[in-house]
Amino acid sequence: MPTRRDFLFSGSALAAASALSLKVKAQTTPSPQVQIPDDVVSLSDFEALARKDAPHMAFEYISGGAADEITLRWNRESLDRIRLKPRILNDVSKLDTRVSLFGQELAFPIILGPTAYHKLVHPEGEKATARGAGNANATMVTSMLSTTTVEDVAQAATGRLWFQTYILKDRGYTHDLIQRAEGVGCKAVFITVDSPVVGTRNRDARAHFVLPPELERANLKGMSRTGGNLRPGENDIYTPILDAGLTWKDIEWLRSFVKIPIILKGVLNPDDADHAVKAGASGIVVSNHGARLLDTVPATIDVLPEVAEKVAGRIPILVDGGIRRGTDIIKALALGANAVLIGRPYLFGLAAAGEVGVAKVVNILLTEFKMAMALMGRPSIASIDRSVLWPK
Ligand code: FNR
Repeated sequence: MPTRRDFLFSGSALAAASALSLKVKAQTTPSPQVQIPDDVVSLSDFEALARKDAPHMAFEYISGGAADEITLRWNRESLDRIRLKPRILNDVSKLDTRVSLFGQELAFPIILGPTAYHKLVHPEGEKATARGAGNANATMVTSMLSTTTVEDVAQAATGRLWFQTYILKDRGYTHDLIQRAEGVGCKAVFITVDSPVVGTRNRDARAHFVLPPELERANLKGMSRTGGNLRPGENDIYTPILDAGLTWKDIEWLRSFVKIPIILKGVLNPDDADHAVKAGASGIVVSNHGARLLDTVPATIDVLPEVAEKVAGRIPILVDGGIRRGTDIIKALALGANAVLIGRPYLFGLAAAGEVGVAKVVNILLTEFKMAMALMGRPSIASIDRSVLWPK
């Protein structure tokens, strides 16, 4: 049976590593039976495992944030600082974790957020993620920047799939891409609106991160490689692909043809949240892109209350950034979110054990969340309100 490390260094990951002349082991066939060590019991344990085993540049790319990574730290520190206020002797013998979002019922408010390039850490890439999400009954948002086409991800998926895209300079391509996602059954589209340019990613640069030549931005096939490029040239900040000229008019344009709910991802300012509602968005994601864009913006959990106040229940609010514990989900819901997204943790699960690792990450987080609901004396999502927190 292949070891976890053999597994990690198989297929594309092997090629990725060897492209950088890393010392790697022989290629082996991936197996869903890969064992997760029994001392891996929390999401941070998966990170430690990935740090040890994954190719250095892949780990740095995934775990890193922008510039000095101050916001990256804040995302966690702000969650850690919030203190829970439980009630006793409330019947919690049955828990109801269901939430309704965009007219769809989710079994629990944990969603796999969009992340790029899954084949960096596993030869089966997004297909393994989709299977793992399905096995855990979780909704997955598949990224425009996947290393597998949205058609192939949809075919592998056994659960609900949503799609994420940027609005590209090539509007025709963007239009067709969203129609492709709709055509294969994606039930919502997340438009990432926080990235007119990419962030200062020193950690990527120090690790010499490049997308290895044998991996492709599969959804962008047909665009030239330069056309699909996300890196600015030297002394430039603009990329060939991202459109720095986007405005609210482009959301109007999207609404003219998109049939599925449109969710704007990357909202931090309450005024933008209000604008999103007025522009007809079906939802927003309060996100600082996992602290990967603009360093020293606040932790998402710190801006969530003001955003929620402004939105005032008109549309659902999702939040992401540093969610690592079941108690973090309680805090996010208490401060106005309807659900949370996770990014890095399931990538570490994917790196460690493919689809099994992805499912395990979701299951650990869900179990912690249920345990926290019970220990807080809150048997339903509706019962998780501000009263679960001590005042600051
Ligand atoms: C991302 N994120 C992201 N977001 C997006 O809209 N499109 C994308 O393609 C990507 N790609 C991506 C790659 C990697 C490696 C990471 C870590 C993140 C951001 C992602 O959707 C989400 O906002 C954050 O990952 C949430 O923070 P945590 O859970 O990673 O702390």
